Amino acid sequence: MKIEITQQPAADLTADAIAIFIWKDEPLTGAAAEIDAASDGTLARLIDADEVSPEAFAVTRLLAPIGVSAKIVVVVGLGQKHDVPHDHRGLAHRAVGTAAKFLAAKPRSVVGFYPDGLDVADAVAGAMVGVVGQGIYQQDGKLNPFGRALFFTDDQAAVERGEILGNSQNLVRHLVNTPASDLYPESFATNAIEVGAESGFQVEVWDQHRLKEERCGAFLAVGRASARPARLVIMSYMGGHSDEKPIGLVGKGVTFDSGGLSIKTSEGMLAMKCDMAGAATVLGAMKAIAELKLPVNVSGFAAMAENMIAGNSFRMGDVLNTRSGKTVEVHNTDAEGRLVLADTIDVAIDHGVGKLIDLATLTGACLVALGTDIAGLMTNDDTLAAEVKLAAESCGEYVWELPMHDFFSEQIKSSVADIKNMGDSRWGGAITAGKFLEEFVRATPWVHLDIAGPAFAAKPKPWIDGGASGAMVKTLVALVERAV
Ligand code: BES
Ligand code: MN
Ligand code: ZN
Repeated sequence: MKIEITQQPAADLTADAIAIFIWKDEPLTGAAAEIDAASDGTLARLIDADEVSPEAFAVTRLLAPIGVSAKIVVVVGLGQKHDVPHDHRGLAHRAVGTAAKFLAAKPRSVVGFYPDGLDVADAVAGAMVGVVGQGIYQQDGKLNPFGRALFFTDDQAAVERGEILGNSQNLVRHLVNTPASDLYPESFATNAIEVGAESGFQVEVWDQHRLKEERCGAFLAVGRASARPARLVIMSYMGGHSDEKPIGLVGKGVTFDSGGLSIKTSEGMLAMKCDMAGAATVLGAMKAIAELKLPVNVSGFAAMAENMIAGNSFRMGDVLNTRSGKTVEVHNTDAEGRLVLADTIDVAIDHGVGKLIDLATLTGACLVALGTDIAGLMTNDDTLAAEVKLAAESCGEYVWELPMHDFFSEQIKSSVADIKNMGDSRWGGAITAGKFLEEFVRATPWVHLDIAGPAFAAKPKPWIDGGASGAMVKTLVALVERAV
């Protein structure tokens, strides 16, 4: 889909469709006012008659309105202007995404967007995400990106930024939506090498031999029963001063989580191709940061392994030697994400990162705590946590902090090894997982984002198809930009 700028007034644009946006209980402005004037007040009359809804993300299609060159006009409601303030920033992305997804139901060559007063970069990113769906193996019925998408703006830089964000989010979504039969540690590494070469960052891949040399005993145990050997993908973008410590991004990359010997149910396993979303998010953020040429140093670490079952599976009661020297008693092989992360966090710190953010579809408990749309945030550093919260808020993504009181650590004590890999009970399971990771971050300022909810959706939303969401790419970019 080609993204272009247009200066054509809404009524005059020759296109298959145009999209306009209206606030609830506000006078029509911009393109909506133009369309209304060109069509002799039709739009205002339809709104008055409750035939066109200004409610947030409501879509109404107007067929061939008189005085309008485009074949159809799609009107998307924005809701009340001051309804939910903390939702405001994501509004452009979601509203434009809603129009784009609606129009992508069939092939169209030219579609014009008139996102008056909305953030242009978010609008472009929203459209790009909206037109791409999870039906990547479908012959019919999938979404159709347009030939050309035109945006009414003169801000070329914002359009380019939106394109970079949209493409990066779509890369994450594609990798996560690709099933484990086609996306495994080695193929993820190949993808990362390609993206690095295209976007401008270095990629190094550690194979099992190297992981063994590096004493990554927990990481290797998780991947051991798979026919697809584990990989650690290390990405490096040095846009800042050479003496400045890089920001470290670490991602859980479990390409399929069967649960191992603590096997999941079929239902619980169905979506577990999504368990590498943290790693994909790190790769997507590296791509965006490099393409935006941000003047910072960033290192990404994608911990890729497949948690499977075989005669050589790791077992309950096994004691794993982590790279840090700490020993871990296995109480549940389905608590595997923290094991691959433990060794990877240790590698990241030895690479000299100044601060560390990890992203992981780590616990079902986080879904219980915060629902499907909010990432759990856990930290050892209030300053870094505040930066991450502000970054998320600035781009309309949702994080919520969970408490990290010392007494949670009691729950991961083992009578055999230094620690065990799950808490005594299910209660506070997101936090005991966070406490486990904290054992490996040493004194580095660190934020853990449990993205088990927002990374992958069972159902579509008006602005995005179901499946992978690309959540937190924008937040990571905003965070790194704040460090500039
Ligand atoms: N990958 C899962 C967590 C998950 C669940 C992500 C649902 C997305 C949706 C993780 O590896 C896991 O299985 N966690 C266990 C931990 C438990 C055994 C301590 C869980 O949440 O049940
Ligand atoms: Mn698991
Ligand atoms: Zn998992």
